[in-house]
Amino acid sequence: MDPSAVLPPGPGESVWTQLWRYVPRPGEFLERCRRDHGDRFTVRLAGFGTFVMLARPSAVLEVFRGDPTALHSGEANRFLAAIVGSRSVLVLDEAAHADQRRALVPALHGERMRAHVDSMRRATEESIANWPRGAPFPLEPRLREITLRTILEVVLGIGGRAADDPAPARTERLRRDIGLLLAYSRVPFAIVLAQITPHRLLKRLSFLPYYRELRRIDATLRELLRERRDHRVAGDDVVADLLRARRTDGTMADVEELRDAVMTLLLAGHDTTAVALAWVFEQVLERPAVHAALRAELGRVVGEEGVRAEQLPRLAYLDAVVHEALRIRTVVPFVTRRVMRPLRVDGHDYPAGVHICPCSHLVHRDPDLYPEPESFRAERFLERRFGPHEWFPFGGGDRLCTGMAFALTQMKVVIATVLSRVDLRRPAGARSRVVRRGVLMAPSDGVQVEVAGTS
Ligand code: HEM
Repeated sequence: MDPSAVLPPGPGESVWTQLWRYVPRPGEFLERCRRDHGDRFTVRLAGFGTFVMLARPSAVLEVFRGDPTALHSGEANRFLAAIVGSRSVLVLDEAAHADQRRALVPALHGERMRAHVDSMRRATEESIANWPRGAPFPLEPRLREITLRTILEVVLGIGGRAADDPAPARTERLRRDIGLLLAYSRVPFAIVLAQITPHRLLKRLSFLPYYRELRRIDATLRELLRERRDHRVAGDDVVADLLRARRTDGTMADVEELRDAVMTLLLAGHDTTAVALAWVFEQVLERPAVHAALRAELGRVVGEEGVRAEQLPRLAYLDAVVHEALRIRTVVPFVTRRVMRPLRVDGHDYPAGVHICPCSHLVHRDPDLYPEPESFRAERFLERRFGPHEWFPFGGGDRLCTGMAFALTQMKVVIATVLSRVDLRRPAGARSRVVRRGVLMAPSDGVQVEVAGTS
């Protein structure tokens, strides 16, 4: 039987036309498909494959609760292996995936994560000190500097206080190379090339600046990780955890495994948060009442010395604003699972080989869940709780983003620090369109702002 024979309807255009429409404006494409075909439809994208988008919360819930042996996310992410390595948590499934996840989680949660709040605030304050005064500038690159600095500190233990860094020039080089790598990944259709070119070939394409940069980063990381492994340098960063962890046979992670884990966290863990933060500022600065309410809450809770970990639970309105911004500007529009054996989800049968995709972009616009979905109304998150299948900008189930708690904390610390320290405005006429950048939905103008004054 042709597996696609049983799939729900979708756009009738060729796979290339669908790709052509999807790539520049994923959100509009998905919304149009839902209008035309309902809350379950099939999209066919040249080079990527066949995707069944699921926009009904009950279907999303079943996928997130599904058996990890029947639904593979690693397999669906295989195209990322050329970048993050074949032993990255992103491209593994089942037991190997669960093992990797266990090793990554502790440093990003609980007390250890809260211990990073001070360095998140410091990184933000130092960045603010260098922001232009009296001229508009795009906020997103500044936010990315902050999130990159924090992730380097948390994962590798470098780049925090300059005095504590044994090799500041190397840290600086790593920062610059990661910035360049991201810039090259934004070349239109780069992700399509990564998808359709065989993995082994991609790694050898040294004439492509992206892969040249990737190799430079690799060389720096390998050098750094070899040092850490050979000298058993202690620490409370993720690499220290990975070095302490032992496989079931008692052996230690090798440098390649460490490299894949570090590369995954560096790449998954800072551009995402920077883009999400940029959207929060865009949404807040467009709405003077929201901006004023946030500043009032910060004035009540946060003292002169800046936000501290124990104050975060008392910033309820800030928390609601972050949730609402992530709802209305979902950074990753859907997540993907490859069906490994015939499976029934929410009353529908799927054959092995297709990809089913809980679509946050569409569920977050479901008017039954979120009345007037296009309006920014943070109060929704104060009035009721939404389930993990109703609000899921970080995906869900056994693949829920390992950095979710960390990202939410960092977002709150950065927003609280910026709004307490400077009076930001949107320059007249500034507007940010949603554009696709790699796998992210990002603001077209990097969110232009200007500093109107300091507090
Ligand atoms: C606002 C910021 C972020 C957003 C919107 C985001 C979103 C996501 C999404 C949608 C997934 C896929 C989940 C799924 O398939 O169900 C994911 C996975 C992942 N994220 Fe994040 N993420 C963010 C920040 C971070 C941070 C800060 C880190 C690390 C410090 C991180 C590390 C990861 C990892 C390792 C995975 C793979 C998890 C797995 O496959 O088991 N992310 N993220």
